[in-house]
Amino acid sequence: MPYYVRVGDIPEKRHTRFHQPDGSLYAEELMGEEGFSYDSSLLYHENLPTALRSIDAVDIEAQEITPNHPLRPRHFRTHQLKAGGDPVTSRHLLLVNDDTRISYFVGSENSPLSKNAIGDELVFIESGSGVLETTFGKVPFTEGDYVVIPASSIHRWVIDASEEPMRALFTETSGHIGPPRRYLSRNGQFLEHAPYCERDLHGPTEPLLVEGSDVEVLVRARHGVTRFVYQHHPFDVVGWDGCLYPYTFSIHDFEPITGRVHQPPPVHQTFEGPNLVVCSFVPRLFDYHPDAIPAPYNHSNVDSDEVLFYVEGNFMSRKGSGIEAGSISLHPGGHTHGPQPGSVEASLGKAATEELAVMIDTFRPLELGPGARDSEADEYAWTWLGGR
Ligand SMILES: [Fe+2]
Repeated sequence: MPYYVRVGDIPEKRHTRFHQPDGSLYAEELMGEEGFSYDSSLLYHENLPTALRSIDAVDIEAQEITPNHPLRPRHFRTHQLKAGGDPVTSRHLLLVNDDTRISYFVGSENSPLSKNAIGDELVFIESGSGVLETTFGKVPFTEGDYVVIPASSIHRWVIDASEEPMRALFTETSGHIGPPRRYLSRNGQFLEHAPYCERDLHGPTEPLLVEGSDVEVLVRARHGVTRFVYQHHPFDVVGWDGCLYPYTFSIHDFEPITGRVHQPPPVHQTFEGPNLVVCSFVPRLFDYHPDAIPAPYNHSNVDSDEVLFYVEGNFMSRKGSGIEAGSISLHPGGHTHGPQPGSVEASLGKAATEELAVMIDTFRPLELGPGARDSEADEYAWTWLGGR
């Protein structure tokens, strides 16, 4: 979605002759969503972006998916998952439905070139830093960033070697991710009541221009992964313009909306996608009514499964639950959840919270992947016992 950007060299007028120094023409590519009816960018390649040398199916081991049955709230400790590999081929699949795949990655290897042809990816960087190299240019990332990668954008994760391993939560969607519509004007500009705005989004600023031939790119599509070998390096773009490109938004730039009494999760909403929303819980002042209860009330989300990734801070409402940094709770539709016993009383009179967490609510039930089964803490469903 983001706003219009122009990077590198482009011709004065679209779809007109644009010559390379040797007199040949640059190859123009329109990358656009929803046919020719939504956001797009026009890119200018030194070589044809269509020239393929080979196409092969990639054998990927089928991952066992199990339903959340019998229905139960769950707690996954992602920091218990094995480190290793790269952010494209070594993700631990946690939760999945037809709309999304939520995975965790911890490791230090750079990824191969890839693109996700199914939908946009939203990646939350828990720790580590590096650069996402893309057809559009470089997108640096660091701890606390959301990285938005539009569907079918060719990219490569390059991780800073001197840093700790990269830890990240991947949300693969089946369409497009963007800011909530209610925060945008009719023409797409952020409105004054939005918790962030254009200045907080960081896209590529200059072309990458990599030379090379016979370049492998992994393509994830509905029926599996394909290996394309392109005749020319896809990062041969001399310039582009438009509203479709990868970008980052730091959770630390999210300006929390607070009130006299408890504000509901939609005030924390940061992104929306097909059948899901993403919210950021950031350090903030608590409710300031003299009798306010800062801890959330019990709630039954009849139409969604709620996934909460605890990044850092004191997770006030989860007292005695075993939740720690790197934990993920799954509170499915059909289950009423709320603060653990004693949490409400402990929150009274508190002025502020330092919690940092990312929430993904899906509108259809989630099933469990191997990463969930490998990291589950069994006792979570019973942690509301003992109160009154
Ligand atoms: Fe909740």
